[in-house]
Amino acid sequence: MNYSSLTRAAFVLDEAAFRQNLQHISEVAKQADVDIILALKAYSFWPTFDLVGEYLAGATASSLNEAKLVFEHLGVKPHVYVPAYVPDEFDEISKFAHHLTFNSLSELERYRDHWQSTKLSVGLRVNPMYSDVKTALYNPASPTGRLGVPIDELPHVLPTGIHGVHVHSLCESPAKSTATLLKKIENDLSHWLHQLKWLNLGGGHLMTKEGYETDVLVQALQGFRKRYPHIEVILEPGSAHAWQTGVLVAHVLDLVKSHGRTTAMLDVSFTCHMPDTLEMPYQPTVRGASTVGPETAGAAVYHLGGVSCLAGDNVGAYKFETPLEVGQQIIFEDMLHYTAVKTTTFNGVQHPDLAIKRRDGSIEIIRRFSFADYESRLG
Ligand SMILES: Cc1ncc(COP(=O)(O)O)c(C=O)c1O
Repeated sequence: MNYSSLTRAAFVLDEAAFRQNLQHISEVAKQADVDIILALKAYSFWPTFDLVGEYLAGATASSLNEAKLVFEHLGVKPHVYVPAYVPDEFDEISKFAHHLTFNSLSELERYRDHWQSTKLSVGLRVNPMYSDVKTALYNPASPTGRLGVPIDELPHVLPTGIHGVHVHSLCESPAKSTATLLKKIENDLSHWLHQLKWLNLGGGHLMTKEGYETDVLVQALQGFRKRYPHIEVILEPGSAHAWQTGVLVAHVLDLVKSHGRTTAMLDVSFTCHMPDTLEMPYQPTVRGASTVGPETAGAAVYHLGGVSCLAGDNVGAYKFETPLEVGQQIIFEDMLHYTAVKTTTFNGVQHPDLAIKRRDGSIEIIRRFSFADYESRLG
């Protein structure tokens, strides 16, 4: 793909790839007889929400701002789960919500007067104490974690007024993990299941990744639906919707040498625009280059450096096919899920443009950020 029309850094969503994911997800939902909705934390590029609405029934929000974004730009009331509700925001957020989930029993009771007389379908987040996620930063079901009531500490009787249970414990997981999660719930929550109206299996179901065993997921969900036909099942993946749907286009600003190491200074920043690469940490995939050890020598070996002043704003070494030149584009693959949502304007670094590659191949710049955007963050 040629991004030569772009002279500035830009996140570029590929509309055709995005539609393909949405189509696949909507087919899985139909086959398995479940609802699959979009988690905004992973993807909230709202200028494409008209497109999302062609395929999906809804979305899930984890803050007042996300809930408003769903309501205003997708035109539906979201499912809402917030790790802890802010008292001043609760009544407003509950007006936007359709389903609303509490993180703890104490919070459920604290707000009981606010929700009991409303039409909200209220749920409780439960920590199923099962996850296949090995990185602690991304494990939502740690036994001592703060997200949800541990399944072995639930009261035997379902608290009055609760319609649903929400369990989010996976991250970029295969279908067999969802099947295991379902088994665990059936086993450990059997005393509640006959009374529940819905079960939300959270996110982490990476059904658009190559090699994902969709039939394993569909079979597990169909089996559960057969055994508990009165329970509406909801999945709320985020990454799966935007998986492999776009890039971050950057440019080489300078090539700096230091004691035998050459760093390509880019017009993007890892800390500002790809924070996951430093948090996880991982080396992102760069088109036409392969990762190499930090001490590798060679004419076309470069460390990639960000444009902020943070000393650690870099992500190690890559070997390119030919030596880099100032002005050359560097394409970071698969940067639309989470990455594009987590950006900051730290150091006043210019935010990349937001663009869409349309199905006819043209690139439309949807948004260019200005000084006013930066200025408005702090005053
Ligand atoms: C409550 C909840 N639901 C859904 C998701 C989406 O998960 P993923 O993007 O891994 O599918 C997350 C991610 O953190 C989450 O915390």
